Amino acid sequence: MLMPAVELHVHLEGTFEPELIFAIAERNGMNLPYDDVEDLRRRYEFTGLQSFLDLYYENMAVLRTEQDFADLARAYLGRARAGGVHHAEVFFDIQAHTARGVPAEVALRGVSEALVASEREFGISTGLIVTFLRHLPAAAAMASLQEILRLDVPLLGVGLCSSEIGPAAPFKDVYDLAAANGLRRVAHAGEEGPAANVREVLDVLGAERVDHGIRALEDEDLVARLARERVPLTLCPLSNLRLRVVQDLADYPLRRMLDAGLVVTVNSDDPAYFGGYVEDNFRRLTEALDLSVDELAVLARNGVEAAFVDDARRGELA
Ligand code: HPA
Ligand code: ZN
Repeated sequence: MLMPAVELHVHLEGTFEPELIFAIAERNGMNLPYDDVEDLRRRYEFTGLQSFLDLYYENMAVLRTEQDFADLARAYLGRARAGGVHHAEVFFDIQAHTARGVPAEVALRGVSEALVASEREFGISTGLIVTFLRHLPAAAAMASLQEILRLDVPLLGVGLCSSEIGPAAPFKDVYDLAAANGLRRVAHAGEEGPAANVREVLDVLGAERVDHGIRALEDEDLVARLARERVPLTLCPLSNLRLRVVQDLADYPLRRMLDAGLVVTVNSDDPAYFGGYVEDNFRRLTEALDLSVDELAVLARNGVEAAFVDDARRGELA
């Protein structure tokens, strides 16, 4: 079994394991509405994206101090290291924290401290991608980006996530400002939403990678374009299964995507919630689809191609 070298679609808050949720809640003197870790885990049954997001936002509300955010990031990096990850581009929902009164600086300093130390501590190179929430107004994302740009925190890029309802086009100015500041641009699209959403983030936001993008398959011309332009898609099979985007991993359209020449990569999304880290996603997909060593090698190579790293680092990861 080939080990994944690269993880390009993981929400830091989605790596928040129940044990750590309880530990941090206790440290902050907060009561959780669950009896214990098992009681919380039993609630990880989702009917779709929104039912997951409700619990995801609720749980992250125990994060308050710089130390909390650093602990969360370190716990993920340790787990990623054990799974064979050497490079991770981590999404962070900054607005979900500032909206409940945590200063952006506190949250970002905590995360950043752990990410910056990661190469030394875990042998994992990292990048931080702040993801704006699509269910909030674009003006709020713009204010958030402007504030973040004034902070002295190393940033790799911007993304867009949360419920895929309403147009992405209002976020164009946010993406333009990000690009003008040398940031890379990705966006969730085509997870629960239709193929047209994938086109929109490419054409309007200038997205360089599409997060999920699985429903791009519903539009043949779009598939041809994604293949021709080698726009990577960051697939998350166990997420798609648990959020009922697909009904069975045996039906996962991975081979169709590979055959169409799409630059697909395998990732974990929210591993604490969806039953597995990136290596589990590789393993479950391999079992369900009987993937060959050659197919796994293509997936691993795609991850390295899709990573936002310089040529020297790309060479080391390859
Ligand atoms: N989709 C959209 N937003 C998210 C997800 C997802 O799968 N995970 C965390 N935020
Ligand atoms: Zn995601």
